[in-house]
Amino acid sequence: MKGIILAGGTGTRLHPATLVVNKQLLPVYDKPMIYYPLSALMLAGIREILIISSPEYLPHYRILFGDGSALGLQIAYAQQPRPEGLPQAFTIGRDWIAGEPVALVLGDNIFFGNGLGPMLRRAVGRVQAGEGATIFSYRVDDPERYGVIAFDSDARAVSIEEKPERPRSNHAITGLYVFDADVCDHAAALIPSDRGELEITDLARRYMEAGALHVEPMGRGFAWLDTGTHDSLLEAAEFVRTIQHRQGIQIACLEEIAYLQGFITRDMAEARGKALVKTAYGRAILTAIEDAPAPLPFGERRAGDRRRG
Ligand code: G1P
Repeated sequence: MKGIILAGGTGTRLHPATLVVNKQLLPVYDKPMIYYPLSALMLAGIREILIISSPEYLPHYRILFGDGSALGLQIAYAQQPRPEGLPQAFTIGRDWIAGEPVALVLGDNIFFGNGLGPMLRRAVGRVQAGEGATIFSYRVDDPERYGVIAFDSDARAVSIEEKPERPRSNHAITGLYVFDADVCDHAAALIPSDRGELEITDLARRYMEAGALHVEPMGRGFAWLDTGTHDSLLEAAEFVRTIQHRQGIQIACLEEIAYLQGFITRDMAEARGKALVKTAYGRAILTAIEDAPAPLPFGERRAGDRRRG
C-alpha cells in the first residue's frame, strides 16, 4: 500500500502569504501544514510515500523530510509542472505506484479524531482485499465549496458532484481517498471538466457507478479542517492549539506516531525528542517513549521495543 501527498497548487487565495512559500509549508500553529496529512497516512500504516509539488518547492520538502528514513518511511518526490487537477497525481505517480493500491491525501487537509487510525487501517484493509475505493464524508455547513455526495434512503451513494451550486446534501467529500490498483487506468480515462481540470469527484463517481465505492462517514467527534483561506487557516491553528494545550498532547507529531506505529526505534525517537526538547513537540516525543506505549495495530511487534517493566 502506497500513499501520495499532493502539495501543489498556487495558493492564490492565501496571497500574499504564499507568494514565495508553498501553502503546505505554512505553519498550522506549531508545525508545517503537510505534517497533518502525512500523519494521516502514517496512522493508516502507510510507509511508502510520494510527495508531489511544483518544481520550485520540491527542494524545500527534500530538506524537510529527506528520504524519510528518520521517520521510518520511504519518501519519494515528483514534480507537478502545472496544477491540472487532483487526479493528475495518478498520471504523475503512475510508475512509482507500480500497480499497487494507493491512498491520496491533499496536503492542506487536517484530520483529527478518536479512532482515526483504525478507520483508516480498515479502509486500507478493504482495498487490499480488492474492494474498490473508500472516500470519507463529513457534514459541513457550506457544502457548495466541496465535492458533495448524496445518499438514497438506504444510505447508498447516489450522486457525486464537484462544488455544486445547489448541493443535494450537506456531506462534503474530504481530501483523503483510498483507491485500488485500477486507479491509474481510471485517472487516465478522465476528461477535463468545464473549469479545465481533471476532477477527483469524476474519479470517485466512476467507482460509485461500478458499485465499488465505499463511503465512510467521519461523524461527530471528528475534526476535518480546512486551510483554504486566511480565516480557516487561523481557525485550524487555534483548534490545534486548543486541543494540544488542554490535553497536553500533540496533534500530528510525526516522530511520536512513527515510534508508536513501530516504524522507528526508541533510540531514534529519543534522539529526535532531545534535539527538539525546547518545544512541546519535542517533549511529546520523549513523553511517548516514557509512557507505556499503546498496543500496535494488527498485533505487530514494535521494532527495537525496549518497553520498561
Ligand atoms: C478538492 C476536491 C473536492 C474536495 C476538496 C477537499 O477541492 O476537488 O472534491 O471536497 O478538495 O479539500 P479544492 O479544495 O481543491 O478546491
